Amino acid sequence: MLLVLLLAATNAVAAATTRISAREGGADDGKAGGLMAKHNCTPKCGNIDIPYPFGIGSGCYFGPRFEITCDQSNDGSTATRLMKTRMLVDNISLTEGHLQIRQLVNRDCYDAQGKPIGEDQSSGGLSVIPPYTISSDKNRFFVVGCDTYAHFVGGRGEQSYTTGCISVCKNNPTQYADSFDKNESCSGMGCCKTNIPPLLNNLTLKVASYENHTEVHDFNPCGYAFVVKMDQFTFSKTSFQYLNKTHRVPLVLDWQIGAESCGYAKQNNKTFACKGKSDCQDKPSSGYICLCNPGFQGNPYLEDSCEGIPS
Ligand SMILES: *[C@@H]1O[C@H](CO)[C@@H](O)[C@H](O)[C@H]1NC(C)=O
Ligand SMILES: *[C@@H]1O[C@H](CO)[C@@H](O)[C@H](O)[C@H]1NC(C)=O
Ligand SMILES: *[C@@H]1O[C@H](CO)[C@@H](O)[C@H](O)[C@H]1NC(C)=O
Ligand SMILES: *[C@@H]1O[C@H](CO)[C@@H](O)[C@H](O)[C@H]1NC(C)=O
Ligand SMILES: *[C@@H]1O[C@H](CO)[C@@H](O)[C@H](O)[C@H]1NC(C)=O
Ligand SMILES: *[C@@H]1O[C@H](CO)[C@@H](O)[C@H](O)[C@H]1NC(C)=O
Repeated sequence: MLLVLLLAATNAVAAATTRISAREGGADDGKAGGLMAKHNCTPKCGNIDIPYPFGIGSGCYFGPRFEITCDQSNDGSTATRLMKTRMLVDNISLTEGHLQIRQLVNRDCYDAQGKPIGEDQSSGGLSVIPPYTISSDKNRFFVVGCDTYAHFVGGRGEQSYTTGCISVCKNNPTQYADSFDKNESCSGMGCCKTNIPPLLNNLTLKVASYENHTEVHDFNPCGYAFVVKMDQFTFSKTSFQYLNKTHRVPLVLDWQIGAESCGYAKQNNKTFACKGKSDCQDKPSSGYICLCNPGFQGNPYLEDSCEGIPS
């Protein structure tokens, strides 16, 4: 059984929580392609490139909302945080105006008798301020489990939108190869997914079960719900085990350098952010980012950085 619920504009308000945990894995960038910090500023946090307009330390970022905090712990690991929030940054893209963060997987786990186990991690969320929004075209909402439903509430300005997803199965879908459709493995057997609305400032989600997983406990003691970058989760026969061990997954935020349109921004060359051989590109919704002119590469937010690509 699979249902996708679409409920219109509700006013559900839940406490958004973002929690800290150790970073797993690491970004392996090493790409030169114009990722550079301002002169005399730290170019990396751990192995994550921090290109201007983002920056670490005063004088190194374009404005307070582009500040990155780089925390070093005694064991040598680093945490790259957006502003002074607990949001952990994974990757920054100048050419697309994206920022990848790591977001918690929410889970709902039971013992064989149907008693909840572990600390309650069944609800969670994320809240961002301009110039950031939660990307609708780059992320999907996934619900994984066999006695599992979850709902998603997205906030956009004064409005809020609720959607959700249900996945119930009596047998273990991960045992059958034909559970996984060739193009789309998350097809309603142990997994369902749905799109999220555009231009959200915040989201909250909650995962729960109908029968506390008592009927499916031997193969699926937990239900999971999370928003994840589209190509970063594929439902497969190892997904129940994978999610059991995975605490955070990548999620994409959109950002813009200014809230105006290019036409308007260009009129004021004191505040216009695009420097050197670069130009302005309107974001689909509002605001703009900068790109080096065709045939040039570098950092379009820095003076004299976009340079001709040697042929
Ligand atoms: C970071 O983003 C760039 C550009 O979008 C991409 O090429 C690269 O693979 C990303 N790195 C990681 C670790 O996701
Ligand atoms: C089923 O789970 C809920 C919480 O998800 C809990 O409140 C309830 O006590 C559980 N029922 C049993 C029989 O353990
Ligand atoms: C989320 O957004 C909605 C609508 O904009 C707002 O009413 C709500 O207070 C926000 N919640 C959080 C936790 O920021
Ligand atoms: C699935 O794959 C088939 C064959 O490759 C293709 O014809 C079809 O359009 C695909 N469906 C979707 C929804 O992508
Ligand atoms: C997942 O985690 C729970 C609690 O930590 C554990 O009881 C269960 O056996 C694990 N395995 C699977 C496949 O979910
Ligand atoms: C900025 O604009 C003013 C007036 O439009 C012009 O005189 C000045 O040369 C411009 N400065 C730069 C750096 O383009």
